[in-house]
Amino acid sequence: MRTRIRKIIVTGGAGFIGSEFVRLAVSRGYSVVVIDKLTYAGDLARLAAVSDKISFYKTDICNRKKIDAIFSKEKPQIVIHFAAETHVDRSIGDATAFLDTNVGGTHVLLEAARKYKLNKFVHISTDEVYGEIKKGEFSEGGSLNPSNPYAASKAAADLLIKSYIRTYNFPALIVRPSNNYGLWQYPEKLIPVVILKALNNERVPVYGEGKNKREWLYVKDCARGVLTVMNKGAIGQTYNLGSRRQSRNIDTVKKVIRMLGRDSKLIQFVQDRPGHDWRYALDSSKIAKLGWTQKFDFDTGIKETVDWYRQNTDWLNTKREKLEQYWRSVYFCKGSK
Ligand SMILES: NC(=O)c1ccc[n+]([C@@H]2O[C@H](COP(=O)([O-])OP(=O)(O)OC[C@H]3O[C@@H](n4cnc5c(N)ncnc54)[C@H](O)[C@@H]3O)[C@@H](O)[C@H]2O)c1
Repeated sequence: MRTRIRKIIVTGGAGFIGSEFVRLAVSRGYSVVVIDKLTYAGDLARLAAVSDKISFYKTDICNRKKIDAIFSKEKPQIVIHFAAETHVDRSIGDATAFLDTNVGGTHVLLEAARKYKLNKFVHISTDEVYGEIKKGEFSEGGSLNPSNPYAASKAAADLLIKSYIRTYNFPALIVRPSNNYGLWQYPEKLIPVVILKALNNERVPVYGEGKNKREWLYVKDCARGVLTVMNKGAIGQTYNLGSRRQSRNIDTVKKVIRMLGRDSKLIQFVQDRPGHDWRYALDSSKIAKLGWTQKFDFDTGIKETVDWYRQNTDWLNTKREKLEQYWRSVYFCKGSK
């Protein structure tokens, strides 16, 4: 017998990972309602392939009245909560929107989910809530030790959700993915920045000496991981979601530059990010027990990613002007070493 189609609200569904999840959920027969404010990071082009199959609300998750009205009308069973301010550098410049959306907006959604008695609330957190780890891996019980305002706002949301689970028996699950890469990522994050700059033969900025390590997860694997947690995860639990493959930023940057047929002389080391975490690493054995495994190794995923950006330079270039303005305003990005 076919399972009953369930209605999911996806917040931040016009963002990088959220849109990948929406495309996946639609392909699996779910009825999807997207709520997204369409900040500079949101873009409906990411949802063009499924626009006739979803409902969309251009709404701020901080707007209690509007969120209540959407929940009342749509009667969802599940919330998958991706919406957030996500760029660490911007949070260092001004954390206001991070606290408003990532903490305040999450609270508004929790209250709506409680009022309308939803079955499940899957919160998308991040590996950054643990802070850096020089050796080994963080398991889900690791203490929260965020290093920057973005990570602190995500950790605050995690703690709020944990308190709801305990106090109200609230049916939440938390997913903590590592650094994602893939198609449609806004070119302020490392890999698409490298692609944007190198394709145009411009200097490619790398923080410090580029020795910081990140655990790269392909966005398609991430979306499947979130779906796995939604369907098979235990209420009240937290799941790390990573590739268990960490690499130095400089090595990642050089690889992408090479794939684009450009010279690594384009690399320009710039003043390091304040509070820059040295290394992230996740123990993802708990989600593996639910049956999730990574399908794309880094070589496969990065090839697909670079090919996609090459074929979508028009989209990439639509982001250029605003980004240039932003980069000019960021004090700690200015100095070369
Ligand atoms: N990208 C990564 O590497 C990564 C890694 C781990 C965790 N995460 C988490 O995954 C989630 C999605 O990340 P992403 O990279 O896709 O982000 P993104 O910046 O690409 O997208 C965020 C989306 O949220 C929307 N949004 C922002 N504020 C909103 C508000 N107040 N109301 C409604 N919508 C709002 C934006 O318009 C955008 O569409 C975030 O919660 C992030 O913390 C991301």
